[in-house]
Amino acid sequence: MKPGLILDLDGVICDTAHFHYLAWSELASEYGIILTEAHNEALKGVSRNDSLTYILAINGTQLSDDEFQSALTKKNNRYLEFVQEMGPQHLLPGVAYFFQEAKSKKLPLALGSASKNAVLVLERIGLADVFQAIVDANTVKNGKPHPETFLKAAELLGIPPTQCWVFEDSAAGIQAAIAGEMNTIGIGTPEALPLAQRHIPNLGAFDFNWL
Ligand code: BG6
Ligand code: MG
Repeated sequence: MKPGLILDLDGVICDTAHFHYLAWSELASEYGIILTEAHNEALKGVSRNDSLTYILAINGTQLSDDEFQSALTKKNNRYLEFVQEMGPQHLLPGVAYFFQEAKSKKLPLALGSASKNAVLVLERIGLADVFQAIVDANTVKNGKPHPETFLKAAELLGIPPTQCWVFEDSAAGIQAAIAGEMNTIGIGTPEALPLAQRHIPNLGAFDFNWL
């Protein structure tokens, strides 16, 4: 059986991690909160809801339920302004090569994203058709670091979790993959992703002989 490749979207396939950070930073500043690089790392892979909870806890800001929902909408609208401007130029280095290689080797591919905007982003960057399975925040109950996203992706591919490889730029995502007993490739440094089995700077640096 061929191994399954399960890819995160934001920060692995396209440069949206930066757009999430910009949109959150603008919102956070309204509450007198400055988001640091360390906050940014901690927020990667974290759901929209949990991200806002994390940000407000930085200085103990309390919001009513209505205010909380309005803040989520505001952040998402700002993020979508960035997404509207996106196109294939926002693919991270080596992504096109990675998909060519995976296709030529007939390796099953799934998306495992914590974003509710995943399909929209895939359409904008021209990759809506490359995955045999797409699992995103609209289709799971438990976000990363819970393994549900990746376990569901493996199930849809029909491949046992231990035969799957997860590509992730977030600590929460690497934790989720480990909890699902999958192989892990960290897109980033060993300092940022100490639990990942291997590290590469981008998908273009992946060596298919590792599979
Ligand atoms: C993850 C990002 O992929 O999706 C997070 O790493 C983001 O930064 C999360 O908060 C939720 O995204 P969205 O698009 O549903 O707000
Ligand atoms: Mg990510």
